[in-house]
Formats: sequence, structure tokens, C-alpha cells
Amino acid sequence: MIILAASTQRTIGLVIALTVATGFAVYVLFNLSKGRKEIGAEIELAPNRKPYYDDDTLETRRLDIALAGGVAVLIIIALALPLYWLGEPGRQQGFDEFTETVFASRGGEAYEELCAQCHGAGGVGGQAAFTVLDEQGRYIASVNWTAPALNNIMYRFSIEEVTHILNYGRPQSPMPAWGAPGGGPLTSQQLETIVEYLSVIQLTPEQMAEEVQEGLRESVLLEVRNQNSGASESELQEAFNLLYTGLGDAINIEAALQQDAEADASDIEEAEDAVELLLDEYLVELATLNAQKYGEYLFNNPAGAGSYACARCHTAGSSWNANEILQANPSLVGLVNPEVPGGGGFGPSLIGVESQFTSATSQSQFISQGCEANLQYGMNGVCEPSGQMPGFGYNATDLEGSTLSLEQIDAIVEYERALR
Ligand code: HEC
Ligand code: HEC
Repeated sequence: MIILAASTQRTIGLVIALTVATGFAVYVLFNLSKGRKEIGAEIELAPNRKPYYDDDTLETRRLDIALAGGVAVLIIIALALPLYWLGEPGRQQGFDEFTETVFASRGGEAYEELCAQCHGAGGVGGQAAFTVLDEQGRYIASVNWTAPALNNIMYRFSIEEVTHILNYGRPQSPMPAWGAPGGGPLTSQQLETIVEYLSVIQLTPEQMAEEVQEGLRESVLLEVRNQNSGASESELQEAFNLLYTGLGDAINIEAALQQDAEADASDIEEAEDAVELLLDEYLVELATLNAQKYGEYLFNNPAGAGSYACARCHTAGSSWNANEILQANPSLVGLVNPEVPGGGGFGPSLIGVESQFTSATSQSQFISQGCEANLQYGMNGVCEPSGQMPGFGYNATDLEGSTLSLEQIDAIVEYERALR
């Protein structure tokens, strides 16, 4: 829109410039040809030899014309100045937006060059190579560390907090320091352009909710496929089992159709839709009947490369699947620590965290808001000055909307308070 406006103005300017240039050229040519005629006739044609108007004409008609001309120009100026002034805020805003666009596009180039290899093109998340070392710094294993999506980061962290992460990186993770304060290569203005770019690529709250839901479906599917019933509380068992069985059947039908070379594409699509519908129904049931289990799925949500989850900061090793690595390489047992759900990583251990908060509600509030510099929370919690615990609820940052709903945060709290 701004570029369009700028180019419209540019077009008008060009037309005016062209008109003036053509007029000037015509004037010069005309003058030249007229000048030729004059050669040898200077005496008769010299302007000072021509008789001029008499006093009568000069003092009436000529004077009136000159005065009227003056008044007309005055009126034009008097009208044009305020009109020009009225348009000034619009021009200023247009210029602001224009510079922001330029800023963001510079940031976009820097992002693709420096960050996309790990965080994915457009900030959708990706992976980073990482070497696990022991305490003496000896090699243990090469792993892939999930790099979270950044197209939702502005909902969880303020601009200052994101800038802090960029300046200092994440200790003990593949995320390096980029700013001068952390010993990185970029200037504060380069970081500003990257932050501006990140602001431009943020998803809408609806898109985030769909991603969260997609991650939950994926988690349930995985469990059903592993024949590991998510239902636990005995009085709810029956309701769960019913849905679970229906879901299992639907998944089997879909899988069979996928295998069948002669199956209709529309049949497969129908089966997929049926599975998705049942998964969503199951998740609604789960959220009301077994919030703790629902909270566990959310705590470990794989969506957005773990960006919606808590595990990547509160369960050491979850970002590089320590448990799977251990299973695949028994020789590493004893060298690599298995994942302890909520056992602490970059963030503190959440086992027994209920003693930190007077109620589940105040714990939910903290998770909604996240840390701000030196914020006091719970019974005796104080946030670090850099505020690294993200806010997952409404009003966590200046953006409207949130990464998780209140119901989802409450469910996570229920899961956390049961961690042993
Ligand atoms: C070598 C891979 C790598 C590169 C290059 C990299 N990052 Fe990261 N970044 C990571 C990983 C891995 C994490 C997650 C660390 C963790 O699990 O705590 C991360 C975390 C972050 C976070 C915090 C996300 C959150 O929600 O906690 C931000 C913001 C970030 N990176 C931005 C950037 C930007 C901007 C660039 C480019 C200037 C960049 N990163 C380059 C690997 C990388
Ligand atoms: C980017 C890393 C990160 C993510 C993701 C994260 N946290 Fe945290 N969390 C922290 C850090 C760091 C602290 C410590 C706060 C401080 O001292 O600054 C913390 C503190 C907490 C505390 C208070 C613990 C105590 O004993 O004081 C709770 C509760 C908590 N987080 C829950 C969650 C939940 C629930 C989620 C997911 C919805 C989550 N966190 C996601 C980094 C993270």
C-alpha cells in the first residue's frame, strides 16, 4: 500500500517534471528560431525601441491586472499551506511505515542468512546440530537440538526480552550470542532490524490455536498407535475407552486405505477427516474429564518445534530426545541423563512446585504473565532481570491474543502440581 502510494506520487512527480522539461525545450527551440529572424534587425526590434503603454493604461488596466494577480497568488498560498499541513501527519505515518518496511526487509535478509539454518525459513522452527559433552568436556554424542519456531515469539516475550535472548544467546544450548554485549558479531541496529522482521512474521492467534491443536492431535495419535491408553481415572475409563476404541478403528481404516493402492483419493480424505474429527472430540472430552493428561500433552506439545511447550526449558534433554538416544545407544547409559518430566533444565525443576504458589490460580496467573525483570511471584519467587520465563496467556505482551487459552494453562498447572 505504501509502496503503491509512493509510486503514485512518483508518477505524478514524473509527469510534472516531463511537462516542465518539454515546455522548456519547446521554449528554447522557439526562442532560437525567433532569435535567428532578428539577425540584422536589432535596431527596429530592440525592446527599448518599441513604444510602451501610455500612463492611462498603465495606471488602470495594467495595475488592476497586477494587483488581481497578486491577490490570486495570495489566496492560493493561503489555501495551499493549511491543506499541505493537513496532509502532513499522513505523510509522516507513510514515511514511518515505509522505513519500518525497509527495516523489516533488511532484518529478513539477515534472518535468512544467519538464523534460518536452525529456526527454519520464515521462522517455522527447525533443528540445530549439538554435541553433548560430559563434565570434563569430553565428547559423548552428536544430537539434533530442536530450534523453536519464532513466528509466535512476540506473544510470549517483550521486545526487550527477545533482544536480550539475541544479545546473549541461550547458555548450554546451540543458540549462540549475536549481540556485542554477549560477545556476538551483530550491532544493536542489526538486531533491531531482525526483531522488526520477527514482528512482521508473527502468526494470528487463530493460526497459533490451530498449531497447538495439531500438535495435540499428533501426540494422541502417537499414543493410540503405541496402544498406550491415555485414560487413567477409573470412573472415566469407560467414556475414554469408547472414544479411544472409535478412534483406534478410524485410524485403522485410514491406515488400511492409505496402504490400498486401489483406494479412492476421496475415500482416504474422508477417512482422514473422520480421524481428525474424532481426535478433536477426544481432546474436548480429555480437557474436561482428565485435565491433568490434557496438561501433560500441552506441556510436551511438539507443535511449532516445541515453541508452545514447557518441556524444552523444564525437562533437560527433551529438545534432543535424550530418551530415544538412550534407547538406540545402550552404551550411553550412565553417560547421558534420561529425561525427567519437569525435572528442570534451563528453567528450574517443577517437581513440588505447588509449594511455591498459594493456589493453582496464582500459579496459572504466573504462567499466563511470565517473568518480567525482577518480578516477585508465588511465595518467594523472584524473576531474573532478563525475564526468561515466557508468558503464555493474554496480556503477556503488547500483542492481542495468546499462545495458550486459560483452560489450557489451568490444565498444565494441574499436571505440574501432580509432578512427583
Ligand atoms: C546454530 C543454530 C541456531 C542459530 C544459527 C540461531 N539459533 Fe536461535 N535458537 C537455537 C536453539 C536450539 C534455540 C532453543 C534453545 C533452547 O532450547 O533453550 C534457540 C532459541 C532462540 C530464541 C528463544 C526462543 C524461545 O522461545 O525460547 C530466539 C528468540 C532465537 N533463538 C532467535 C534467533 C535469531 C534471531 C537468530 C539469528 C540471528 C538465531 N536464533 C540463530 C538455535 C539457533
Ligand atoms: C524459554 C524457557 C522456558 C519455557 C519455554 C518455560 N519456562 Fe517456566 N521458567 C523458565 C525460567 C528461566 C524460570 C525461572 C524464572 C526466573 O527465575 O527468572 C521459570 C519458572 C517457572 C515456574 C516457577 C518455578 C519456581 O519454582 O519458581 C513455573 C511454575 C514455570 N516456569 C512453569 C512453566 C510452564 C507451565 C511452561 C509452559 C507453559 C513454562 N514454564 C515454559 C523458563 C521457561
